[in-house]
Amino acid sequence: MPTTLITGANRGLGLEFVRQYAEAGWRVLACCRDPKAAADLTDLAGGSGGRVTVHALDVTDPARAAALAAELDGEAIDLLLNNAGVYEREGPLGQLDLAAWERSFRVNTLAPIQLSAALVEHVARSQGKRIVNVTSLMGSIGDNQSGGSYAYRSSKAALNMATVCLAKDLRPRGITCLLLHPGWVKTDMGGPDAPVDVPTSVAGLANVIAKRAGTKKHAFVDFEGADLAW
Ligand SMILES: NC(=O)c1ccc[n+]([C@@H]2O[C@H](COP(=O)([O-])OP(=O)(O)OC[C@H]3O[C@@H](n4cnc5c(N)ncnc54)[C@H](OP(=O)(O)O)[C@@H]3O)[C@@H](O)[C@H]2O)c1
Repeated sequence: MPTTLITGANRGLGLEFVRQYAEAGWRVLACCRDPKAAADLTDLAGGSGGRVTVHALDVTDPARAAALAAELDGEAIDLLLNNAGVYEREGPLGQLDLAAWERSFRVNTLAPIQLSAALVEHVARSQGKRIVNVTSLMGSIGDNQSGGSYAYRSSKAALNMATVCLAKDLRPRGITCLLLHPGWVKTDMGGPDAPVDVPTSVAGLANVIAKRAGTKKHAFVDFEGADLAW
């Protein structure tokens, strides 16, 4: 049974990733900041016959990431899915909230790379050997048509660059790193006007992950498999 570890698993895309991978027969290590407050996730885990386990993880806490790596010592993670992310409310130029910008970098950029480093041995000993970082088309420099959203855009653009570094560092170990854009999706982050529903986005992303498995080539692609401008 392949294993995936998913961050931000208590709601939105993360919760649906848990549901779909569990239904597909995977073992799921579902991570969230506060398991006690994650009713939907704990319900899902409770009905999964032990396939889904819930783990406390604030992705901005390197000590907790190290402790989780130790708890999972010797285990294999076929797919590390760095999904947790934030879109901080931002004012226009001149009213930028620098603390929010820093938080965006901590969650969206530093955390996925730091967790990948903490769990690299678990991924390396697996069959699947995949690290997927959920990014955004808003992190594309080539596609930036509207400006604004300084914190979110720059934190995801930096994630894209750091993931290319990761991909090149880990390719000799047979690990494939992907950057996936889920589309504009109806979640708390995407809002009710988003054109893509959560199950459609996640099914598309899982399909892309399966198709790109083992290619050992990094890519920046959307939930329909289209390559995106860097
Ligand atoms: N929805 C879209 O249209 C869209 C478009 C492009 C990219 N994305 C990306 O897709 C990913 C998932 O987004 P979503 O739409 O599902 O957003 P969401 O509904 O707002 O969910 C965000 C998730 O990230 C978690 N998270 C935030 N900070 C965390 C931290 N410090 N430690 C652990 N977990 C943390 C949240 O947990 P809490 O409940 O504890 O806050 C929540 O589970 C993000 O990386 C986002 O940038 C989304």
